Amino acid sequence: MYQSGRENSELVAALTAVFADTSVVYYKTHGFHWNVEGPHFYSLHLMFETFYQPLWESLDEIAERIRALGGKIPQSYNDLLKNASIKEADATPVDHLMVKNLRDDYLALAQKDLDMAAFAEKQGDLVTANMMTEKATFLQKAAWMLHSSFTL
Ligand SMILES: [Fe+2]
Repeated sequence: MYQSGRENSELVAALTAVFADTSVVYYKTHGFHWNVEGPHFYSLHLMFETFYQPLWESLDEIAERIRALGGKIPQSYNDLLKNASIKEADATPVDHLMVKNLRDDYLALAQKDLDMAAFAEKQGDLVTANMMTEKATFLQKAAWMLHSSFTL
């Protein structure tokens, strides 16, 4: 159960996994913003920016919640990625495959956020539950915008 001012190790472990997956999705989105090419360059470059910015803010909020729960944030990318289950992009896909990849990742991350919210609620941590539900709301909306950009 959640206890204020104590280390809440189960919540910290679960939230660290969410933090790691959010980091992968953040960096992939920013990388696609930089690397996208083709006739849809400008609209996709801008749309990806509207997604990586809130993802970056999410990282800061999740990290600070982990600290408030008594945990520490992985200090290296190496440690961070050990906690992630969403896959990085190894190469630069063509534009419509970037859109599809992000759509799929956003839906997957939204589900992880909702699972985290349900777990936090069960543990009596309504602050984390509310925060993660808000992240899922953003991700599902972004997934819809991506899906509507192309026939995927
Ligand atoms: Fe930029």
